[in-house]
Amino acid sequence: MFRLDGKTALVTGASQGIGRTLALQLAQQGARVIPAARSVDKLESVAEEIRSAGGQAHPLALDISQPGEIAGQLGELPEEFAEIDILVNNAGITRDGLFARMGLDQWEEVINTNLTGAYAVTREMVKGMMRRRYGRIIFVSSVVGLMGNPGQANYAASKAGLVGMSKSLAKELGGRNITVNVVAPGFVETSMTDGLGDRVREQLEKTIVVRRFGSPEDIAAPVIFLASAEAGYITGEVLNVSGGMYI
Ligand SMILES: NC(=O)c1ccc[n+]([C@@H]2O[C@H](COP(=O)([O-])OP(=O)(O)OC[C@H]3O[C@@H](n4cnc5c(N)ncnc54)[C@H](OP(=O)(O)O)[C@@H]3O)[C@@H](O)[C@H]2O)c1
Repeated sequence: MFRLDGKTALVTGASQGIGRTLALQLAQQGARVIPAARSVDKLESVAEEIRSAGGQAHPLALDISQPGEIAGQLGELPEEFAEIDILVNNAGITRDGLFARMGLDQWEEVINTNLTGAYAVTREMVKGMMRRRYGRIIFVSSVVGLMGNPGQANYAASKAGLVGMSKSLAKELGGRNITVNVVAPGFVETSMTDGLGDRVREQLEKTIVVRRFGSPEDIAAPVIFLASAEAGYITGEVLNVSGGMYI
């Protein structure tokens, strides 16, 4: 079950963290994978790992904060990777700060990458998916977009925006056999959470029902499920993957 043989998947933010694991695991399920991000050397190593396990991968330099350049960057894909069946909008950044002191640049940087970037990549993919009458679009949001978090008004707004966008898209695209869903992780062990001090971590773990941070693998599993043919009757859904931090 949940095999992805014959499908092509593009994962944004695949140079490290959750996206890296996602790219490797989508490939393990049989998909041809396009790991995309700005750090080309890291993408090369992801692609190499996929190839050495017998899979197919093509790394793609992609800066989602530059919407005007995305079509050109996608145009660099070789023919065998050009028709994308599965899109995982995973790339994201944080620029935390209390709202009263949050400058417009800090607000815009996060909204431009996390929300406008996801819009711009998805928009490039949708026409092809509509023509081929098949698609799986998954947005990696955050429980912070559902419950809020002090110091993260910009990030929470961007992640909540993904939920509204995906539900609207689900309604527009369902008739073409394209599903659109959101995975909303809680705290996950990546560089995004590396900087948390021990005391903060301990406090946070107390708010998580299963009493631990998630791993990138914990997030990859539901993404693979939503990317599969078997999940074809699930669309417009938000899957909270937070170990019960948000119930
Ligand atoms: N870790 C958590 O606790 C957590 C919780 C909830 C949600 N999430 C979400 O999960 C996703 C992955 O997070 P992570 O923890 O794996 O973070 P991470 O380790 O910081 O990785 C972020 C990824 O996004 C890419 N990226 C950033 N800006 C980009 C841009 N302008 N264009 C293209 N790629 C860009 C980075 O690659 P380059 O720098 O190479 O471009 C990197 O691969 C994010 O959307 C995050 O908001 C994370």
